[in-house]
Formats: sequence, C-alpha cells, structure tokens
Amino acid sequence: MGHLTLRSGDALPAFGLGTWLSEPGEVYQAVRRALELGYRHIDCAWIYQNEAEIGKALEDAMAAGDVKREALWVTSKLWNDAHAPEHVRPALAGTLKDLRLEYIDLYLVHWPVAHRHGVARPRESSDFLPLEQMPLEKTWGAMVELEQTDLVRNVGVSNHSLTKIDQITRAVGTRPAVNQVEMHPFHQQRELLAGCKSRDVVVTAYSPLGSRGRPEGMKRDDEVPLLEQPALAEVAAELDATPGQVLIAWALARGTAVIPKSTNADRIAQNLRGSEIELTPRQVGRLDELERGERYVTGDFWCPPGSPYTLASLWG
Ligand code: A2P
Repeated sequence: MGHLTLRSGDALPAFGLGTWLSEPGEVYQAVRRALELGYRHIDCAWIYQNEAEIGKALEDAMAAGDVKREALWVTSKLWNDAHAPEHVRPALAGTLKDLRLEYIDLYLVHWPVAHRHGVARPRESSDFLPLEQMPLEKTWGAMVELEQTDLVRNVGVSNHSLTKIDQITRAVGTRPAVNQVEMHPFHQQRELLAGCKSRDVVVTAYSPLGSRGRPEGMKRDDEVPLLEQPALAEVAAELDATPGQVLIAWALARGTAVIPKSTNADRIAQNLRGSEIELTPRQVGRLDELERGERYVTGDFWCPPGSPYTLASLWG
C-alpha cells in the first residue's frame, strides 16, 4: 500500500476507511472487516458520534492479532466547539478515551468555524463564534503544542483554504501536516492541491465517491451523481473495475490520500482493491475532464441567516 510522507517523517497510508455517516451498530463490523482485509488507516472525528464503537473495534482487532498499533494509522478531528486553546486538550482526551487509544497519529481542526463551547450543532446565530473572537491561530497554536506530547503524532487541518493555511502557519511558525478536503473529479481543487504540495502539506480527499449517502437535507434537487458518469463507466470497463474503484485510483494518482466510506462488507473489499489499480495518464485525463467546480459538502450549514460565516469567508 502506498504512503505519503508528512513533515514529521511519518508515513500516512494513502488509502483509508472513512467513517462519516457510518451508523452505530454498523461501524464496528466495518472497521473489523477493513482491518482484517488489510486497511491500515481509519479516519474518524468526534462529531461523527461513533468513535466509541470504532474504539471497541480497534481494541478487538488488535487483541485478535489483526493489526498491531504501530502498523495502524488513526486520524481524528477537533470539533468546532472546542477551538479555545483550553478546550483542545480535553477534547483530544475524550476522543482518545472513546477510541481506546493512548495516542492518535493525526489530529485535525475539523472546520475553520467556531461554536460556543458545548454547542455541537448550532441552532441560532448566537451559537456561532466569529473568527475575530476565536482566531484560528489560537486554536492552531494549541494543536501544535499537542505535537510535543505523547498523545498525538501529527496535527493538521480540514476544510482550510491556502489563505488560512498561510495565516496560521505564519502566526504559529508550524504548518499543518495535512489538509483534508472534499476532492473528486467534479471538484478537483487543482489550485488548492498544487498549493498544498508546494507548501509540503499532504492532502487527504474526502467524499471521493461523491458522498451519495449524505443526509437528504444536504442534497440538491438537480444533483448529478458522480458515480453514474459515463466517462467513469468507460474507464471502469477498460480496467474491468467498478466506478468506485476508478475514483479511488484517480485520487491516488493525483498524490492525495483517499478515505472512501463504506459499511458494506463487499464494497469495503472492493475499495481496497481499487487502491491497487493504476490509471494510465489518458485515463486520468479522461476523469480530469469532468471538473464542474461543484462541492457536495457546500458548507452552507455554517452560513444560516445571522451567522458570522458566509460561503465566501468559509472557503476563502
Ligand atoms: P455504503 O456504506 O453502503 O457502501 P464517500 O466516501 O464519497 O462519502 O461515499 C460513501 C458513499 O458511497 C456511501 O453511501 C457508501 O455506501 C457508498 N459506497 C462506498 N463504496 C462504494 C463503491 N465502491 N461503489 C458505490 N458506492 C460506494
């Protein structure tokens, strides 16, 4: 399995299992199955509300001898209500307890968005804290301090623009090891990817299959399903592969890590095989032509009327 080298020298397995929307009652089996098959990278977050079940799966997998801790890569993410420096370490402690781990390999600032402490999901505008009040630099400073402890090996960000990466790097003097963002042929983020590469920030692609399982409320009526694109079917037929496998191979060909979510045993296996497929430059180019500049995860949920966040400020 391929790896991407982070600024610490640590090797991030380029292919991993996503767990956003992996249901309680299903995610245990998904993680066990993935680890049995050879997955070595599990992507988690506090807000997914399933870290305790994942922790049980990790513990049982290690006890069964499926994987050793040092061969396993676990990522988690700091939620928006714990951006104040004094809340960062306690938030990590909660995640470590749930995951039943002494350390995690990578801890990310989940969104460049802050909530009042204790507000998991904002209901009114006063639940948000503007970044002027809770600056990203302060949160990032506390994250970087964690790297000096035995609790976290690497720290990074998610959903951050190059402008925000430069801002926090300049203020704290340490760049994020990773930026995890939405990336797939409909939303390739070429400038962001090139900028991260030139800054030696490794990129992880989320929603690489087009996130078709996300809540109905997050979907548009006129949404075009990525997995059903004819170009994808054509490349898949050439390779005797599935469209999902082609999307995984495309993400890896671009030098990103990729974390397709599945709780289905067959698709978990299928996706791992996808990570072994190499596309020709022509096949990569065929998928490159699909760019639409469209996010599935638009971030509009952070920008209701009265919120201090707008789509322009969120992604800019
Ligand atoms: P399931 O968990 O039932 O397999 P993304 O990673 O872009 O968010 O996509 C995840 C969604 O795609 C989930 O709904 C998942 O459903 C589904 N999925 C995962 N792997 C595949 C695949 N190889 N082909 C088609 N759909 C897939």
